[in-house]
Amino acid sequence: MEHPLQAWRDTLRELGVVGLVREPRLEPAAPQAAPQPVHRVVPEAPLPPAVPKAYAPPTGPVACPPAAAVQAAATLADLQRAIEGCLACPLGPGRMKFVFGEGDPAARLLFVGEGPGRDEDLQGRPFVGKAGELLDKMIGALGFSRETTYIANIVKCRPPDNRTPTPEEAHTCLGYLHRQIELIRPDVIVTLGATPLRELAGITEGITKLRGQWQRIQVGGREIPVMPTFHPAYVLRQYTQDVRRAVWQDLQAAKEWLDRPAGS
Ligand code: URA
Repeated sequence: MEHPLQAWRDTLRELGVVGLVREPRLEPAAPQAAPQPVHRVVPEAPLPPAVPKAYAPPTGPVACPPAAAVQAAATLADLQRAIEGCLACPLGPGRMKFVFGEGDPAARLLFVGEGPGRDEDLQGRPFVGKAGELLDKMIGALGFSRETTYIANIVKCRPPDNRTPTPEEAHTCLGYLHRQIELIRPDVIVTLGATPLRELAGITEGITKLRGQWQRIQVGGREIPVMPTFHPAYVLRQYTQDVRRAVWQDLQAAKEWLDRPAGS
């Protein structure tokens, strides 16, 4: 039987790590003026059907979840119940399943991607396709798992043809993610790709330039450090050692921040 350390070593190799050399400690950059995300509040997985069914319009009353219901949600389960019927933007009517997010409701480490793809839309779970397999490996190599972190997206319904969500779609959905973040209270957020960095932190500079550089956001009166890194789908497309090593460094910086002694 394969020794667990062997699997870990193989995963590290896949991520481009060729030797284990202690990296100099990366301190978060001095806090910048914290961008103030707009709290514009507009408004769970059986096996996927073998054949995708056509969209069936809801039979009950349809309304965008009232902002008050989103704010009143005291748990992630409450929040999910309040918003999973959302038809507030054009993505709603096209979805198979609402992809709320999953993981430890009190996770210290939160990953935020862009939006569900085909596999996620079918299963109602984030990052379950090829990019998700890689994300799972990276999370595992860090010493965490899906169950000990939390994974969410900027939009909770699949954009057609996996296109980038429009700013309107993202803004319509962002209030839900903000409430999720307020309830989870993560110590660090890792944004995957350009879209979550833009929508959560208001930063439009290229991810290639900004990855690895600590940012900060303010949600629910808390300042949260954000580590931007490449999206796993990009890593799969650009499967070079440089890209894989960059992501590994970013994830390690996030873990080091979590592991720092209290009060430092
Ligand atoms: N890509 C994302 O950004 N999110 C997912 O959930 C899956 C793929």
